[in-house]
Amino acid sequence: MRTPDYPSPDAPKWAAVDTYFADLLAPCDDALNSALAANEKSGLPTHDVSALQGKFLALLVQMTGASKVLEIGTLGGFSTIWMARALPENGVITTIERNPDHARVAQENLSVAGVREKVDLRIGAAVEVLPSLEGPFDLIFIDADKPNNPVYLEWAIKLARIGTVIVGDNVVRGGGVISPESTDQNVVGVRQFLDMLSTDHRLDSTALQTVGTKGWDGFSISIVKAL
Ligand code: DHB
Ligand code: MG
Repeated sequence: MRTPDYPSPDAPKWAAVDTYFADLLAPCDDALNSALAANEKSGLPTHDVSALQGKFLALLVQMTGASKVLEIGTLGGFSTIWMARALPENGVITTIERNPDHARVAQENLSVAGVREKVDLRIGAAVEVLPSLEGPFDLIFIDADKPNNPVYLEWAIKLARIGTVIVGDNVVRGGGVISPESTDQNVVGVRQFLDMLSTDHRLDSTALQTVGTKGWDGFSISIVKAL
């Protein structure tokens, strides 16, 4: 069980409802469970999306008809597996991981899940890998180090087309996101990112808070409406 960064007396209930929903709507098969087990065994941070969030991303892939997906921040590839499985026959997800140890775990998890040929795993800092990518991507999931979120958003727009959907993970920061004076660089990065979502005329956006197995968290969701 992951440790939420926001302690709440209701957290066990949030998690129990998540488990109830996940058992019904987003059950993990052996490959997904073994990916989580491998991540834990290798000491990866427990920052994977929840199963329901993975399913949400998979549904977004299908709803948008995406065949070219970009993920910034692979970690152990749990979300990558969800999205890769939702791709059409010719679909590809490019996913970027800075930490070579994490990338090795991800590579194995992706192979076990049978999606290795749908995934273009790039090992390196996203700020270095992104300029080498060719767009446009149909769906972009930003889920890496939060201080660089503004840079990742600029790149996401550069690698987009009109209609591309951009999802940002972890925009709540335990509620810290509302603190303009915060010195937490994760909060600073997420606030700059949200300011950009608010003011950039190329984007139309919302943000949704979530509670569940990850505690109190949330996503931003944007559509690129001009370039
Ligand atoms: C953190 C990062 C994540 O991508 C996540 O899903 C949860 C937490 C973090 O850096 O705290
Ligand atoms: Mg995340």
